[in-house]
Amino acid sequence: MHVPLLDLKEQYAALRGDIDARVRAVIDSQHFILGPAVADFEAAMGAFIGTPHAVGMSSGTDAQLAILMALGFGPGDAVLTTPYTFFATAGCLSRVGARPVFVDIDPATFNLSPAALRDYLGRVAVRDGQSGQLRTPTGERLRAIIPVHLFGLVCDMDEILALARELDLLVLEDASQAIGAQYASGADGTPPRQAGTFGEAAWFSFFPSKNLGAFGDAGLSVCRDDALDAKLRATRMHGMTEQYFHTFVGGNFRLDALQAAVLHAKLPHLAGWSARRRENAAAYRRAFTDAGLVKRSLITLPAEPWAEQPGVREHHIFHQYVIRVPAAARDPLKAHLSARGVGSAIYYPLPLHLQECFANLGYKAGDFPHAEAAARESLALPIYPELTAAQIAHVAAAIAEFFQNQPG
Ligand SMILES: Cc1ncc(COP(=O)(O)O)c(C=O)c1O
Repeated sequence: MHVPLLDLKEQYAALRGDIDARVRAVIDSQHFILGPAVADFEAAMGAFIGTPHAVGMSSGTDAQLAILMALGFGPGDAVLTTPYTFFATAGCLSRVGARPVFVDIDPATFNLSPAALRDYLGRVAVRDGQSGQLRTPTGERLRAIIPVHLFGLVCDMDEILALARELDLLVLEDASQAIGAQYASGADGTPPRQAGTFGEAAWFSFFPSKNLGAFGDAGLSVCRDDALDAKLRATRMHGMTEQYFHTFVGGNFRLDALQAAVLHAKLPHLAGWSARRRENAAAYRRAFTDAGLVKRSLITLPAEPWAEQPGVREHHIFHQYVIRVPAAARDPLKAHLSARGVGSAIYYPLPLHLQECFANLGYKAGDFPHAEAAARESLALPIYPELTAAQIAHVAAAIAEFFQNQPG
């Protein structure tokens, strides 16, 4: 049996009529740059996420870059974030001249650890005597925290927001992998909110493999503030505030109208797809538990810490379903799955603090043991909505077979 890591053809087959009609309407209009297709999609996304402003961008990367540019991040600024994420999170910081400052993850969730953040801010950061400003030991001003809602699970936002408020830091969410994921504040009992609504601004990626995927690159910036919204809209148009009058330097970060049409056709199905992904995760959980793999600590299941919060339905949207296995078993297991026709992937094999391009930041192996262990132990399994029960059973059986044949 063949179980690819992802199969987008089935999704397209089911929605071909809707998608083609919306794409055709854009082609008929010949309005390819911004215009009604983008505006309508932005309005629909804003309503779905629960944010006043949604600005279509050319990719998740550009959505982040535009936010950093619009907020004036640059040399002399430092931003706290996770070393266990896709490259863009830290790459964009470097591109504007800011310094990424990494802190370790919570090994249970793979997300930025509030305890590690607190530790850095209390022990490593330096408080400027005159201004009271927090600085890195190398002198940059600590301005923001970027929590990344990795694999579709929202970070511990109560803790992160409390810390940010206490220390006057901005919170910018990398929600690239978490469209529709929910979290409720246990602290004040407010109803669940979606990824992207907690910080000053957030960005999403619509890379084709995402839960809501375009037919190419696409992204979204969101924010609450009217002035930031206006600045983002100008930033994606080379800083243009009036035709051919440029108030500042931006870029071409516009969402393509054809991509907006595709995404708009898919949006009504997103919640159903996320529900299917959660059902698939539950099926894996049952299969691995029944096979005794969890009890014997051969597999660590993805944590779902917000599952019990009242009213939270989409606590984890399982953009990726990432298990942990003993480090020595991970690559052989991947090869075994491949021999059984099962696709899998490693997100991510090398944490960002150890990437060659960040050697200048001065980190070394051992600085973030939880991120480094995750890089050695994690394996993403197929979780896409169209998976059948038989395919899930095949993946689970192949994994059980692998561990049966392991010595010890
Ligand atoms: C966590 C994270 N941040 C940023 C990005 C960048 O998004 P894009 O690939 O749309 O530029 C991605 C997408 O792969 C991501 O997963």
